[in-house]
Amino acid sequence: MIKIYIGMSADLLHPGHLNIINEARKLISSKGEGKLIVGLLTDKAIASYKRLPYMNWEQRKNVVENIKGVDEVIAQETLDYVPNLLKIKPDYVLHGDDWKTGVQASTRQRIIDIMSQWGGKVIDIPYTKGISSTKLNNILKEVGTTPEIRSHRLKRLLNSKDLITIMEAHNGLSGLIVENTFIEQNGKKIEFDGIWISSLTQSAAQAKPDIGYLDTTSRMNTLNDILEVTTKPIIYDGDNGGPIEHFVFTVKTLERLGVSAIIIEDKIGLKKNSLFGTEVEQEQDSPEDFAKKIIAGKQSQVTENFMIIARIESLILEKGLDDAIIRAKTYLDAGADGIMIHSRKSTFDEVKEFCKLYKEFPNRKALVVVPSSYNQVSENELIENGVNIVIYANHLLRAAYPAMVNTAKSILQNHRAKEASEEYCMKIKDIITLIPGAQ
Ligand code: SPV
Ligand code: MG
Repeated sequence: MIKIYIGMSADLLHPGHLNIINEARKLISSKGEGKLIVGLLTDKAIASYKRLPYMNWEQRKNVVENIKGVDEVIAQETLDYVPNLLKIKPDYVLHGDDWKTGVQASTRQRIIDIMSQWGGKVIDIPYTKGISSTKLNNILKEVGTTPEIRSHRLKRLLNSKDLITIMEAHNGLSGLIVENTFIEQNGKKIEFDGIWISSLTQSAAQAKPDIGYLDTTSRMNTLNDILEVTTKPIIYDGDNGGPIEHFVFTVKTLERLGVSAIIIEDKIGLKKNSLFGTEVEQEQDSPEDFAKKIIAGKQSQVTENFMIIARIESLILEKGLDDAIIRAKTYLDAGADGIMIHSRKSTFDEVKEFCKLYKEFPNRKALVVVPSSYNQVSENELIENGVNIVIYANHLLRAAYPAMVNTAKSILQNHRAKEASEEYCMKIKDIITLIPGAQ
């Protein structure tokens, strides 16, 4: 009786996967008897090196255990095969031969070395040409997503990653950038996990001050442009949520659209951007009244998935850490699904103090930070301090603005566009083909 182990994500099953399973069956037949065990990578294992899979682990398990020839599906909790291999001690590990080169080559060698301890072998199956998960993924991206699948993704990410990275978008084009930009680093594909719909950058993009002047209809129009071209989860900046009577409608609207979370701040009166701090008049809501808003929002939502995150402005308004902590307790008791602690200091120190105390909360929920002013803080440092979500709240717009001003100045200076085109602009060929479907 031989044992064969195949590790896979099995999100987008294609003939390449079935070919490997088939080869395993043939091998078992040739030896008389055997068992094929699939080590199905958990969401967490997959999120450690690439985008979260479309289907969750239970859904993928359901599919794989019903494939002819698969005897057992177990969880592979890490990208590393070794913990499962040591438990199972299989006679064979089968994998597509594409892993002989590139970043996976060292993984393969490690498996060969470990397996040799009990005489096990690695078999490389010729890679099935013309089809790959990457190709299917790109096709799926074009198809888009549904509100239900998208909205659930933030909670899935919270369960799968130490730190979720969110980037601001203020129109369809910047939404596309957040959706598609990635880098490869140490064999991992690194990209933003989701999108922040910022009141500041959306107002600025429409040349309006960030004082709550854009009405909900206008905000929803931009949101819709972004929804149309993206699949990643969305966190919506709800300012202070407005009057309770309005807030309950906003929650329902966002839920219906597939937004994962709204963040509302505990301020009242005319809205001013938090980064002004005490330079402008800003008034904080009472903890009790703000808690009522959270309760009303939670009662109005229809699905389980939607999150209402309470943003505490005590540090912005220099009310002190104790006030921030009392408020965090009050808001969590009211049912908030997370806390955002904001600061405009140039160092991480005061937020770090908050993190330390927040860690001790028994009913602790997701912690969100927006390091716009204390931008030297690294993602690793945030993880060490228990932060769950980091929002880069305004950077794409801040980057675009000086580039446009420089271009405008260059044309004025040179009385022609050649210099600007060469120095600051993307190629015409690139802009006309930037958006799929233009040809
Ligand atoms: C936003 O991006 O609009 C925010 C974050 O609310 S901040 O500008 O820092 O207030
Ligand atoms: Mg805002």
